[in-house]
Amino acid sequence: MAYQVGYIIGSLSSESINRTLSEALISVAPDDLEFTEIPIGDLPLYNRDLDSSFPPEATALKEAIAASQAVLFITPEYNRSIPGALANAIDWASRPYGENSFDHVPAGVIGASPGGIGTAVGQQNLRGILSYCNARQMTAPEAYIQFDPQAYGKNGEVKDEELRTILTDFMQEFRDHVERVLTVLPRT
Ligand code: FNR
Repeated sequence: MAYQVGYIIGSLSSESINRTLSEALISVAPDDLEFTEIPIGDLPLYNRDLDSSFPPEATALKEAIAASQAVLFITPEYNRSIPGALANAIDWASRPYGENSFDHVPAGVIGASPGGIGTAVGQQNLRGILSYCNARQMTAPEAYIQFDPQAYGKNGEVKDEELRTILTDFMQEFRDHVERVLTVLPRT
């Protein structure tokens, strides 16, 4: 039986290198992972005044996470942290109080940037947030991807052999992590 993975891209850009990375990750992932994007671009800014009457976009976000057996975050680093759009989505999903959508959810974190830091600092910030949200994170391997456009083809193709190995190993480990977590913490 396949595992349903919802994936969240931290960038709203139509030219996102993290979207390219997400396509590559999906193309090399084990066959028993099925992926659905969880969009975050249409969410209004979080406001706790709306906790008792969530807007439809925020309800859809929480439903999409609930329908996922695991969540994979693929995100840029902004100003050594995470993009505001992603922080906003996590704020919505973590509320209202007592209905945190990430509680016990298997999760993975990866990201790409043009520079050598490869989103390392942003990922650490995201890991702290997800820890607070009580997600069950894959802690290893980490993957800080310095984006080289030459390494990617169309439709998820990974031209660079070394990169393909790194991404394939990452997704295999993510699959195994999801299986381990769901064994003790099943999700419907
Ligand atoms: C960036 N960028 C960036 N890169 C990085 O490695 N560390 C950083 O802290 C930042 N900070 C940052 C802030 C803001 C507001 C922007 C717009 C950009 C550059 C960033 O890595 C680059 O624009 C990527 O292409 C963004 O990823 P997507 O949107 O292409 O997926």
